[in-house]
Amino acid sequence: MKRIHSKIDTGSAAYADNVAAYLAMLDTLNERMHYAIDGGPGRERSIERHLERGKIMVRDRIDMVTDTDTPFVEFSTLSGWGQYDNEVPGSGIVTGVGLVHGVPYVFIANDATVKGGSLVPMAIKKHVRAQDIAAENGLGVIYLVDSGGAFLPLQDEIFPDKDHFGGSFYRQARLSAQGLPQLSVVLGGCTAGGAYVPALSDEVIMVEGIGRIFLGGPPIVKAALGEIISPDDLGGAEIHTRTSGVSDYMASTEAEAYGRLREICATTNQRRIDERQAWLDWMEPEPPAHDPAELFGIVSADDRIPFDAVEIIARLVDGSKFGPFKPEWGSSIVCGFARWWGHLVGIIANNGIIFSESALKATHFIELCEQRRIPLVFLQNTSGYMVGSDSEAAGIAKHGAKMVAAVANATVPKYTVLIGGSYGAGNYGMCGRGFNPRLLFAWPNSRIATMAADTAETVLTDIRLGGLKGAETTEDQIAAIRAEIRHQYETQSDPYHATSRLWDDGLIDPAQTRDVLGLALALAARQDEPAPGPALVYRM
Ligand code: COA
Repeated sequence: MKRIHSKIDTGSAAYADNVAAYLAMLDTLNERMHYAIDGGPGRERSIERHLERGKIMVRDRIDMVTDTDTPFVEFSTLSGWGQYDNEVPGSGIVTGVGLVHGVPYVFIANDATVKGGSLVPMAIKKHVRAQDIAAENGLGVIYLVDSGGAFLPLQDEIFPDKDHFGGSFYRQARLSAQGLPQLSVVLGGCTAGGAYVPALSDEVIMVEGIGRIFLGGPPIVKAALGEIISPDDLGGAEIHTRTSGVSDYMASTEAEAYGRLREICATTNQRRIDERQAWLDWMEPEPPAHDPAELFGIVSADDRIPFDAVEIIARLVDGSKFGPFKPEWGSSIVCGFARWWGHLVGIIANNGIIFSESALKATHFIELCEQRRIPLVFLQNTSGYMVGSDSEAAGIAKHGAKMVAAVANATVPKYTVLIGGSYGAGNYGMCGRGFNPRLLFAWPNSRIATMAADTAETVLTDIRLGGLKGAETTEDQIAAIRAEIRHQYETQSDPYHATSRLWDDGLIDPAQTRDVLGLALALAARQDEPAPGPALVYRM
């Protein structure tokens, strides 16, 4: 692998313009993150009430459980952004990966300052996604439960379907059976379905005075049985720890509970983050030779102006060293080997449209990585596969399908970052969400849609006008159709629209990409080698 020689002129006006545009995008990202953390209508009052009750804010709780001065990688902080009238910041739930005694765990923690921690549809999706991340990466789960259960006004979008509330309990039971610890601290009401989060856990701690578990709360008990009882007498820490046995330990304060939880974690017999297994090639890491902060000057402020994937790779990988595969062929896809925080990886990155040669090159490279057991990192920036008569006649459909099939069946760990456009089937061939990358992050300049707004405006206007079958249409009407289509595509391809719906695991600052994927690779490195996949049939 040779050091990449950058051609970027950091003194140019274009570079300065790009940096200014990117820093403005990061300001927006940070503002929205703050809104998710402690913003929203009436939030100030509900935070005040939470603190008055002696309760601790959700992210501080996680901080009290995790090892001092270790990173917590939070997922999908902006889930729900722009949905539910923007009244459910972060969907009222925090998920992520953090270390306890050096062992990585997934955290699923309700934020009771948002709708009483009750679960809106995006909260359920986030909860289930965190469990799926735990399953694939071999991680235990710590549940910090402080939730009013299902958000009742939207119960039909939460309750019955495969990946709804029931799916979260199904996953919890199966994760436990795989030997992945399921540990709960009960810090609020766990009513009805919510009672099963602690009840399905391997070990449970309840905090006196705030933690409660019951299938039906006092109002239901009164209506059904005429019994009048206080919440604590019905399902408080004492009754469940000393009488029912639903809980294993009780703590008089949150701090005591987190100390107890850390003691439990010391007995779970899980591999630490630094227990690398031999199958994944690793050597001492070195920082990139080119500064990751220069990414801001490379990504074009105008998304119609392309930027070179090799310049991006130079700012992400160890020593900025890269071993390109087939560099003289299929140049609209860059493939090659590099080290990422010491881990040997195969990188596949777009330099624009995917042509037949580029698709074949990527397929070949995926097969090499699969055979050699090398994780794959996809850096998406493509408008999709090439269209047109020449391309069709050359068989782009079958060549694209080879790439899609190879990605779908690769069993080595896969990770995807949307660094620019993610359009059309390019999203699929480059390991989009539907292809189950272990983690998928997006940069705030990214765009995701079936096609770019410019293209959609022309294509859909033509279709709409065709449908009118020659009926008189004025220039103004045509302009209105074009504007409506453009607005729809621009809104729906916006990265905040995507992250709100959990099409990714979060928007990240490009300069954090190296560290975030570094942690993800370390999670894979502590696992056993994944079993190789079957032989594929490729349409030749
Ligand atoms: N569905 C919809 N909204 C809910 C909710 C639920 N399950 N649980 C709480 N909320 C909302 C409240 O309406 C309130 O909304 P607002 O801020 O817009 O007024 C907010 O969350 C805070 O609730 P509040 O009752 O004021 O807070 P609290 O801290 O005193 O009590 C709970 C919190 C969770 C103990 C209590 O709200 C509760 O018991 N909720 C119902 C639990 C239930 O029966 N769930 C059934 C699930 S299947």
